[in-house]
Amino acid sequence: MADSAGAMKIVAVIQARTSSTRLPGKVLAPVGEVTLLERMLAQVEGAKTVDEIVVATSNDPSDDELAERIAARGTHVFRGHLTDVLARFGNACEESGADVVVRLTGDCPLHTPDTVDEVVDAFLAADVDYASNLEPYSRPDGLDVEVFTKEALIRAVREASPGPDREHVTPFLRRDAGVRRLHHIHCSGPAAPHARWTVDDKADLEFVREVWKRLDLAGPGPHSYEAIMTATLSVAPTNPGAVSNFGYYKSLYDHADAAKAAPLRLVESEAWLRRSEVVTPGGAQTYSKSWRLHIRGVSPIFLERGSGARVWDVDGNEYVDLVQGLLPNILGYAHPDVDRAAYERAQNGHSFSLAHPLEVELAERLIRIIPCAEMVRFAKNGSDATSGAVRAARAFTKRDRVAICGYHGWHDWYICTTSRSAGVPDAVRELSHTFPYNDLPALDQLLASHENQFAAVIMEPFNHVWPAEGYLEGVKEIAHRHGAILIFDEICSGFHFGLGGAQRLFGVTPDLATFGKAMGNGYPISCVVGRRDIMQIFNDIFMSFTFAGDVSAMAAANAVLDVLENGDAYARMDAASTAMADGARVLAELSGLGNRFIAQGHRNWPLLRFLDDAGADDPVLRALWLQEVTRRGVLIISTHNISAALKRKDVEQVLGAYSAAFKYIGGLVASGADLESYLDGPIPTPAFRVRG
Ligand SMILES: Cc1ncc(COP(=O)(O)O)c(C=O)c1O
Repeated sequence: MADSAGAMKIVAVIQARTSSTRLPGKVLAPVGEVTLLERMLAQVEGAKTVDEIVVATSNDPSDDELAERIAARGTHVFRGHLTDVLARFGNACEESGADVVVRLTGDCPLHTPDTVDEVVDAFLAADVDYASNLEPYSRPDGLDVEVFTKEALIRAVREASPGPDREHVTPFLRRDAGVRRLHHIHCSGPAAPHARWTVDDKADLEFVREVWKRLDLAGPGPHSYEAIMTATLSVAPTNPGAVSNFGYYKSLYDHADAAKAAPLRLVESEAWLRRSEVVTPGGAQTYSKSWRLHIRGVSPIFLERGSGARVWDVDGNEYVDLVQGLLPNILGYAHPDVDRAAYERAQNGHSFSLAHPLEVELAERLIRIIPCAEMVRFAKNGSDATSGAVRAARAFTKRDRVAICGYHGWHDWYICTTSRSAGVPDAVRELSHTFPYNDLPALDQLLASHENQFAAVIMEPFNHVWPAEGYLEGVKEIAHRHGAILIFDEICSGFHFGLGGAQRLFGVTPDLATFGKAMGNGYPISCVVGRRDIMQIFNDIFMSFTFAGDVSAMAAANAVLDVLENGDAYARMDAASTAMADGARVLAELSGLGNRFIAQGHRNWPLLRFLDDAGADDPVLRALWLQEVTRRGVLIISTHNISAALKRKDVEQVLGAYSAAFKYIGGLVASGADLESYLDGPIPTPAFRVRG
């Protein structure tokens, strides 16, 4: 600890109590020779920036033993309210004379002094009221550090409402507009945001004990982050599916209002729809953006503007938008860098009469990022790109049939495989064959059933179902054995699962691939990429349209890649998507609907499914949930389309809405109510279902 008092007194306040819900008494559990909390204290005492450590426990008799043990080792103990932990912190701060508080939780016996110092140093250098290493996480769970001024804390104590904001010390500080915050502190050393070094349950405790056995052999400590990281590498994680911050989700649930949500004012939306229906078949330009995907009379129909993760409808209602234009807005609406890049380009013209150098630069960049890309052709929509890829495959192989898995757009060759196939000639339909995901024998049989006739196997390599071990490799082998070209449609997976798409994630390189959606953060751009010998066929076939080389969308795509490649966008997406997926799961469980709700797939694009008792999709349960969360300010269809614009405040609003919706519906289900009678509009009708 700091050996001389500086101008400001910096006090680490470690909150600890023995009445933990999931593992009572955990802070006093033995970890080797001493207790878990004493392990943590010995580690934090190594922090050079901290003047004093206070253990803030409750004044409940259940914490008497804890208080005595900690005081006996010479550590300052403060006792305060059991559940108003915010007030407990405020009082501990006053009593210790702290100017700056470092908040730590007592269930982190692998905390490290260097992590504490890095965050305190960043706080001191930044002239802010609050700093943390939480958003984005780069350290393992269990190395959280939050630093704030006494003034900010006292204001939170004064102004925060009862409920989650007081049971947990910092939600108010992390959200309130008056607090100047610094979140993006990158601690040094290897990032490990998915590692679990905290102790919530028995499996965590076993892991920590194993790590400490190794650390004890290394010397007396305190041990650095790198040293502990090294020690953990030889211990198998015991709790891979565990949820962090369970306590936070639980208190959200406990305090959620279980009543039905109030209806939204939708007068303007309905008026615009009446006008639209006269001039627009379908009422919208994209099926999935029409009222049919939402609950008529409950949900908005027309949006007016968006900023970051939020949108406002024509009636002025505000929502956290988890649709994000059907995935494109990976950085959120109106991202300043992207808009500036597109606007500056447009100032010098953007739909030129000849090719433009930006086409070359962007292609070169994509070739560096995407494993299969050796050449690139640009387009506007995903459907352009998938259709171009299929035509290239047909021309290259001189074959006609196509094997299809997933969704690929609106053109004849694909849409004829769905129930919306009216208008497609039978001659086209006969050449398109679907195959089921994760079923290699089915694909093999399909290709064998018309030997030497399949030009391509086109598939979404991963949407909401994880590929079985070896599946994608198997698809590639089968396609090639039958002389077909493998096309990965990465229109959705391309950027949401990291740069380079699913082909990089799973290490399987297709012959051709298509990208789009998030590529331009809302500016229309897509592309076909792939093997040079196949791509050369574009010299002979015709894939050409007036706006394919539009330079403003290319400038936007370049700016998107700048952000995705150089910033912490993926780490921020990860933090938001983990909290929303974990939170949704915990809230469903607490409401008694744990076996009727699943979020499946990758965290950045999970499909939320609502099931009946037999495990089949339950459209009524889904619709009622949709009704309740929409009315509470969450715009969603079936998936979390995660954007890097999601801030803590947005995630809290989403989880607040989920808490209330699950609590309300859980109560109805428990009472045996007829759920449909609580719906205020018709059940939404997707065009067709090809995923999930
Ligand atoms: C996987 C996939 N491929 C292709 C498309 C078609 O893209 P677009 O609607 O831009 O034509 C989509 C659209 O949702 C898609 O999800």
